Amino acid sequence: MPYQLLFVCLGNICRSPSAENIMNHLINQAALGDYIICDSAGTSSYHIGSPPDARMTKAASLRGISLKGQARQFQVKDFENFDLILAMDYDNYESILALDRTRQYQDKVKLMCEFCRYHSVKEVPDPYYGGPEGFNRVIDILLDACQGLLEYVGSQPQLKTM
Ligand code: 4NP
Repeated sequence: MPYQLLFVCLGNICRSPSAENIMNHLINQAALGDYIICDSAGTSSYHIGSPPDARMTKAASLRGISLKGQARQFQVKDFENFDLILAMDYDNYESILALDRTRQYQDKVKLMCEFCRYHSVKEVPDPYYGGPEGFNRVIDILLDACQGLLEYVGSQPQLKTM
């Protein structure tokens, strides 16, 4: 079974689709596509069915990453289906944990910025109501966090044989 990662933000149109597509980019570079699978979701229902935000898509394309996807809302069954759930900020983290009524999946949920090696931020800042620099910063932070995450996942027992 491949290792399954789920990236989660509020709307699933800016930060989490960027994280998903950046991670897929790194996974493909490392030829690990058969071993690690990525998806993303939002804690809100605001943008269900929408493609990634055009401003986010532009910032990603400047770094050679194209954003694919269609927003969906996080579902309780995601707790079972994914090995690791990465929240972009504390609010998303709390919203996800609140849906785990039996408290059996708490260890699967982590903050994305735990995996940053060069950035000291604790959250991926919400860029939605700001200017282009906020979107560029999201990409910078996520490139850092995704590198760290790839190393972490590569060290998991399930992937040791790759
Ligand atoms: P995301 O950004 O959570 O990174 O997708 C946002 C998208 C939409 C809204 C807020 C943040 N909104 O309020 O509609």
